[in-house]
Amino acid sequence: MAGNNIIPQIHTVTKHERNKLLGNRSFVVWFTGLSGSGKSTLANETEMRLNELGYLTYILDGDNIRGGLNKDLAFGEEDRRENIRRIGEVSKLMVDAGVIVITAFISPFREDRDSVRKMLGKNEFIEIFVKCPIDKCEERDVKGLYKKARNGEIKNFTGIDSPYEEPENPEITVDTGLHTPEESTDIIMEKIEPFLNNQ
Ligand code: ADX
Repeated sequence: MAGNNIIPQIHTVTKHERNKLLGNRSFVVWFTGLSGSGKSTLANETEMRLNELGYLTYILDGDNIRGGLNKDLAFGEEDRRENIRRIGEVSKLMVDAGVIVITAFISPFREDRDSVRKMLGKNEFIEIFVKCPIDKCEERDVKGLYKKARNGEIKNFTGIDSPYEEPENPEITVDTGLHTPEESTDIIMEKIEPFLNNQ
């Protein structure tokens, strides 16, 4: 643990200057939902739309985080909490750097998501609940992991023997059991719009 001898430096160029330079505000678009609910698909679609409109974005997801920064973490409760804490801190730095950060993690615990929300400023955390019934996620089973979890090959699998706490007040909810990725992204883009420019 760092002691009390860390004294933050005040930098002259701040997020405000960087946001001005880029012409928009920076914030986090935080997707949460079960494995197979469609978080990565929607993160990718949302990033493509924002990129086409000329915004600087970056996706944080399992591929670039659990294989690197968080490769020491597994899927027990403590590790999942630490996973989200670190992703929150990285997101905060990237928002400070002026980037629109898009995250796609199950992030199953309400308290952890709320802690990330508190790390960030007002209007800097847009929580998107990717709603999808577990039987549908299991039916899709894109990665074959539900099958393994049912066989007992994987323990602590979210929705099976590890909990998922639905958001109570997300900024956006999309139901991927009902809507196509394109329809869900339309909903997301419409709701994100006001966050882009209210400097
Ligand atoms: S989180 O719970 O800590 O937020 P995260 O989004 O990083 O999870 O990783 C979830 C992905 O890891 C799943 O989509 C799945 O591909 C894989 N995975 C491997 N083991 C598990 C498990 N026990 N529970 C959930 N996902 C798992």
